[in-house]
Amino acid sequence: MVTLITGASSGIGEATAERLAREPGAELILVARREDRLRQIVSRLPCPATWLAADLTGPDAPGRVLAHLEQHHDRLDLLVNNAGAAWRAEFGEGGWANVQRTMELNFDAAVRLTEILLPLLRRSAPSSIVNIASTAGRVARGGSGAYSASKFALIGWTDALHLEEAPNGVHVGSVLPGFIETEGFPAAELKARFATRWLVSSPEKVAEAVLDAGPGGQAERYVPRPYRLVAILRVLLPGLTRRVLGGGSAQVMTTKTGADAADESGR
Ligand SMILES: NC(=O)c1ccc[n+]([C@@H]2O[C@H](COP(=O)([O-])OP(=O)(O)OC[C@H]3O[C@@H](n4cnc5c(N)ncnc54)[C@H](OP(=O)(O)O)[C@@H]3O)[C@@H](O)[C@H]2O)c1
Repeated sequence: MVTLITGASSGIGEATAERLAREPGAELILVARREDRLRQIVSRLPCPATWLAADLTGPDAPGRVLAHLEQHHDRLDLLVNNAGAAWRAEFGEGGWANVQRTMELNFDAAVRLTEILLPLLRRSAPSSIVNIASTAGRVARGGSGAYSASKFALIGWTDALHLEEAPNGVHVGSVLPGFIETEGFPAAELKARFATRWLVSSPEKVAEAVLDAGPGGQAERYVPRPYRLVAILRVLLPGLTRRVLGGGSAQVMTTKTGADAADESGR
């Protein structure tokens, strides 16, 4: 199974690479900005793998990814659109600039990459696309409006693509993680308290869900599964859901993603 994973230099992307590398006949292409991390991960994978260092928000990124694929492979069985980040800001402070940079990475980059790879995925059918969304794409909290907007958009677009591409043999699924402890989303506040520690799950569990929502043929997969209740409650009991989510816990959704953290510390 030839699989391309974006955001594969840490967290969920890295765990997905490690999990998929154990599948029979696996061949992986890992994409992110941090070349050193990608090289290190590829070197320890037990399957053929290549990497491409690219900022997926750049104008030439989709073309570079396609060229890399065409150079090393003649097919693509699974595309995992995972690269993403959250920059916490209320709209009154962050304004459109924060919404724009969040949409550029979490939504536009996935759409642009999918557009250029779709003909290859159709030629490789049966094949799949998995978009890593979030439970925050079903419920929104103060301070994370830009992030939620990007993930709501990603889920809506994924649902439509699921219907459109089924006749072409390209299965399209979403994975909706809750709180997952990663470099970008450490969930330290939740982990620090006994009462909330159970809410935090692992990137390895999300990696299993990628298999379910891709080759497994599921349309959507929450991680952990009971988080589906949050989405149901949002529809059935919107007032109660708003009151519960009004506690300002969106702090735990702020990332200082690898290359961004390096930028901010002046490295
Ligand atoms: N962890 C959670 O609680 C959680 C919950 C719900 C959804 N998610 C989603 O899961 C996905 C992965 O997040 P994670 O938790 O694994 O965080 P992470 O460890 O920070 O991983 C983010 C990945 O995206 C890459 N990336 C960031 N900006 C990029 C850019 N401009 N171009 C290319 N790659 C870029 C990063 O690599 P470089 O810095 O090397 O580019 C990194 O590999 C995201 O879409 C996130 O929204 C996470």
